[in-house]
Amino acid sequence: MKLAVPKERRAHEKRVAATPDTVKKLIQLGFDVSVETGAGVQSSIPDADFEAAGASITPDAASTYKDANVIFKVQRPLHAAEGDIDEIALIGSGVKLVASLSPYTDTGMLDIYAKGNIEAYAMELMPRITRAQSMDILSSQSNLAGYRAVIDGAYEYGRAFPMMMTAAGTVAPAKVLVMGAGVAGLQAIATAKRLGAIVSATDVRLAAKEQVESLGGKFVMVDDEEAKEAETAGGYAKEMSDEYKAKQARLIAETITKQDMVITTALIPGRPAPVLVTDEMVESMKPGSVIVDLAVEQGGNVTLSKPGEIVEHKGVKIIGHYNVPGRLATDASALYAKNLLNFITPHVDGESKTLNINYEDETVSGILLTRDGSIIHPNFTSAKDSNGGK
Ligand code: NAI
Repeated sequence: MKLAVPKERRAHEKRVAATPDTVKKLIQLGFDVSVETGAGVQSSIPDADFEAAGASITPDAASTYKDANVIFKVQRPLHAAEGDIDEIALIGSGVKLVASLSPYTDTGMLDIYAKGNIEAYAMELMPRITRAQSMDILSSQSNLAGYRAVIDGAYEYGRAFPMMMTAAGTVAPAKVLVMGAGVAGLQAIATAKRLGAIVSATDVRLAAKEQVESLGGKFVMVDDEEAKEAETAGGYAKEMSDEYKAKQARLIAETITKQDMVITTALIPGRPAPVLVTDEMVESMKPGSVIVDLAVEQGGNVTLSKPGEIVEHKGVKIIGHYNVPGRLATDASALYAKNLLNFITPHVDGESKTLNINYEDETVSGILLTRDGSIIHPNFTSAKDSNGGK
């Protein structure tokens, strides 16, 4: 039973899908673990630490993927059109690929997994049930992103966060608005509060109100009939009507002019991020204000944000860093690696030390995209599978 951990090859990716701690546990489960040389370097994990944990270090992608039964990755493997190495071609038939596969945006890949007879597990689709909390990569990574967004914003902000009363005068506390009070937003609220800011937050889900208030934030939202239905059974937000969006835009426009910093985190699974902050709203902010758009890679919550850039518009900085969890790669890798370990553990037979995937388990059926040469996930089966839909 070989489990492979290749080096991440995509731009802006510093994380790795295993740590020495998870390697030890995978070996106890019965896996032989191969880690590609250098895979952990950007997360401050040298090869020697993986080796000391019992992994074999492989010199390149080909030797890492060779004969693997399970592959743990952060981002989906490269295919021929994307880089020098066609990682997909290195994955054998029937191999279990466990990673963040962005199936809604990289839909074309599903056919490729099916054709290669790869069992592709998209970890970001993990159902939000209590039992799966320890496997939830969106939560573990968003939490760190929310923290880092405030730190990145504070770094670009030319003023202090806490109120300071000094002999030379008083420094006013920063006013921070967090838009989208999910996992990232709640951590952003907590972090900004810890730094001494006055924090308010907004969301379309009414359930967020109590959470925001329990962290000491003020909740600002359009509270109408539609808002009562804004949450899906899975705990996510729905796309709101144009009428709601107009009301929300008016409320945000009034609120935003008074803020020193805005952190946006609003997402709708499977859809582009909602636009919440328009050019006019940015122009209504004081010079020196800062906006951090955590949704920039999903289309952006801020019209002026650009992926990978800090845009300056009329004195307001709009930060759009790529891969924010990756900016805390050591912690992000540790939590991500633990999520993957927690996912695979119940599917290893402790006696025989063999992999025995329970395909009926919600944590498997909820995330498994392809199996036996076909696309099988209900959210994607309308797409043509490799057997022509047969
Ligand atoms: P997310 O990353 O999909 O979205 C971030 C936030 O943006 C959400 O709070 C969403 O309501 C908000 N949003 C979407 N459209 C918006 C708009 N137009 N204006 C303002 N805000 C908007 O969501 P995330 O953070 O992954 O989770 C959402 C909720 O799911 C959590 O707050 C929590 O209640 C629940 N959850 C449950 C878990 C479990 O039971 N295992 C684990 C993690 C989260």
